[in-house]
Amino acid sequence: MIVQKKILILYITSLCLTLNSYSLSVKKSDNTLISESIIESINQEDCNWCGTSEAPENVSWNTVIPPEGELGEKLIISGTIFLPDGKTPAKDIVVYVHHTNNEGIYPKRGDEKGNGQYHGYLRGWMKTNSNGKYELETIRPAPYHSHGGEPAHIHYNVQGPDYPEYWLTAIWFSDDPRVTDEYKKSVKRSGGFSNIISLTKDENNILRGTRNIILEKFE
Ligand SMILES: [Fe+2]
Repeated sequence: MIVQKKILILYITSLCLTLNSYSLSVKKSDNTLISESIIESINQEDCNWCGTSEAPENVSWNTVIPPEGELGEKLIISGTIFLPDGKTPAKDIVVYVHHTNNEGIYPKRGDEKGNGQYHGYLRGWMKTNSNGKYELETIRPAPYHSHGGEPAHIHYNVQGPDYPEYWLTAIWFSDDPRVTDEYKKSVKRSGGFSNIISLTKDENNILRGTRNIILEKFE
């Protein structure tokens, strides 16, 4: 059991280092161009950060991620995805997210398939509607306890008919003291808007935030 725990911790550490270290060949502009090597990397069977291809059929523009009884503060993130022009709403874009629970771990039931074995069951899929909208309801994730000082985060991938799956720098929260200047400098792909999300409570005491995204152009 202890060995399994150590292997798990090593895996999570390497996964996060991998996500942080993907180097990009980009043309500097709001709509950066992603290198071919990134596109090639997503075709590998061992893509450990992918997830959009595991979306259920008939995926909706909105989703509720946590099962009944999952502990944590209720959180709703919504947004609009735009084409690379930054103005036109992008429909039929699959958004895949996964995150930790309120104890900072990726919880598993043991029956997960595909990358769910690593990302855990707090993951979900959406497909933007004709207005480019998506929305996810979940619980606020806690930061890792096992390693590092990484901010609490929600991982984000996007994919569409003309867009191979790629990852964005995860959502962080503006009230998280772990979002230091050093972390702010480490943002690699924010998706045209800040990945640091301010949360407000609505009339039902539910935390709400917005993440809009501008799709990137591929060479
Ligand atoms: Fe993570």
